[in-house]
This record gives sequence, C-alpha cells and structure tokens, in this order.
Amino acid sequence: MRLIKKRALITGGGQGIGFAIAETFCREGAVVCIADINDETGRNAESQLKAGGGDATFAALDVSDDASWNTVCADMAERAGGIDILVNNAGINIRKVIEEMSADELDRMYQVNIKGPFLGIKHVLPIMKKIGGGTIINMSSVCGLIGHKFTPEAYTTAKGALTTLTKAIASRYGEFNIRCNSINPSTANTAMVQKMLKDPVWREQRLGEVPLGRMASLQDIANAALYLASDEASFINGVALPVDGGVTAY
Ligand SMILES: NC(=O)c1ccc[n+]([C@@H]2O[C@H](COP(=O)([O-])OP(=O)(O)OC[C@H]3O[C@@H](n4cnc5c(N)ncnc54)[C@H](O)[C@@H]3O)[C@@H](O)[C@H]2O)c1
Repeated sequence: MRLIKKRALITGGGQGIGFAIAETFCREGAVVCIADINDETGRNAESQLKAGGGDATFAALDVSDDASWNTVCADMAERAGGIDILVNNAGINIRKVIEEMSADELDRMYQVNIKGPFLGIKHVLPIMKKIGGGTIINMSSVCGLIGHKFTPEAYTTAKGALTTLTKAIASRYGEFNIRCNSINPSTANTAMVQKMLKDPVWREQRLGEVPLGRMASLQDIANAALYLASDEASFINGVALPVDGGVTAY
C-alpha cells in the first residue's frame, strides 16, 4: 500500500473524479475525509467506502466559504492529528460562452473553481507546516493549459489560474517540505459532462481531439493523484500533469 495512514482531505469527493480518488486512496491505506457541498452524495460515498473496508468520513464543505474551510480543517486536524494530503477537486462548469455569461455566473465560477482551492491551500498550509510537510493536488484541466475553444472562457481562465497558483505554491512552500502539483485531465465521463456527451457533435469534437481516441477514465485520473500523493513523487513539485491522451501534445 502506498498511502498507509496518510490523512487526505478530498473536496468534491462525493461523486465523479473525487470519489474515484477517495476510493483509490482508501485502497492504498489512507485515512480519507470526503468534503462536499452535497450532503446526500457525500454521506452515500462515506457509506460505500466504509463498506469496502476504507477509513472514510464525510464533512460538509462549501469550498467558496472561508468559515466552512476553517471548520473542516480544524476538525480534521483535531480528530486525525493533521492533514498530509489536500486534493482540491471540487469544481463546477456553467456552460456559457463569454458573451452569454452573466457577471453573477462568472462570480460563481471563480468562487468555486479558483477561490475554493485558494482558501483550501490557505487553511491547510499551517497544518502541514506544523506536521513537517504535506502534498497538495489541484484538479485543473487541459483547459488550464490551452485556450480550449469548446470550453467556456470562465472555466479556462479559472483552471489557468489554478495551474499557475499550483506553481506559485510549489515555489514558495517547497522549503517547508510541501509539494504542490496539478492534474490537467481531458474529458472524463462524469455528471459534469453527461448532458454534453449526449450531443453527437460535441462528443465527436471532444473525442476527435484526443490522439489516443477515448475519454479519460476516472481511474486514469485517480492513478495520477495517487502517484502525486505518494512518496514515489517526493521530488515532483510544481508540475502540471496532463492526463489527456495527448490532447495538449500538439
Ligand atoms: N469531467 C471532466 O471531463 C473533467 C475534465 C477536467 C477536469 N475536471 C475537473 O475535475 C473536478 C471534478 O469534476 P467531476 O467531473 O468529477 O464533476 P462532478 O460534477 O461529477 O463532481 C463535482 C463534485 O464537486 C462538488 N462540489 C461542487 N461545488 C462545490 C462546492 N462549492 N463545495 C464543495 N463541493 C462542491 C459536487 O457536489 C460534486 O460532488 C472538477 O474540478 C472539474 O473541473 C473534470
């Protein structure tokens, strides 16, 4: 097992990519806290992981809310004695191009997709410093690396900021034995994209851009998170890791 007794906080862990990461981390011996805004999926995820023998708990968290982060991090630090791994995975996508997006929608996109990870990092840093180090994984996107023309500009700019935030944290906090990396996946079949995948034109556009000719599986992404969280990646810091079948290779 590669994460024995490592204490991991995974935002948006109730479903989709976050849940796949939680399952993988549990399998590898981690103590996992699934933090999600959705109580129902969060609690279901907790039960499912426990039923599979995982050491998992659910915590209610709105990543855009500073006080909410304070409560969850303080609870975990007290209950588990620290946080070794933060996975900033929660995200949303309001699918409107720049000309159609309202200022309120833009605010919400930035609140969840970039303010959320920013606050999470802010709250875990003192805890990680206190225990002698840690690792942070930010779930960006291929859209955080390129100006992706099939994706709303509010999403690409938030994910771009997350990719750069990752590098800034890696640079400043490496001296505290804190590593920070991002994962930059291409399309994966989760609730976030299911409606779009039913549109044959959109599906063709998204699959047509992947040299390996398929979507990312949730396990592909969870495996990248496992690697970055593990000691095998102990000298990997500030990397933006595409899990994209080659989408950003050309
Ligand atoms: N699915 C894809 O194709 C894809 C590709 C690249 C990157 N991503 C990124 O991966 C991450 C996970 O996406 P997914 O596809 O699993 O989506 P999803 O919609 O299936 O899951 C998102 C989770 O985040 C939670 N969440 C939403 N807002 C929250 C908030 N304010 N506070 C706490 N939790 C909140 C939701 O309740 C849900 O459990 C996102 O950051 C997304 O941008 C997804």
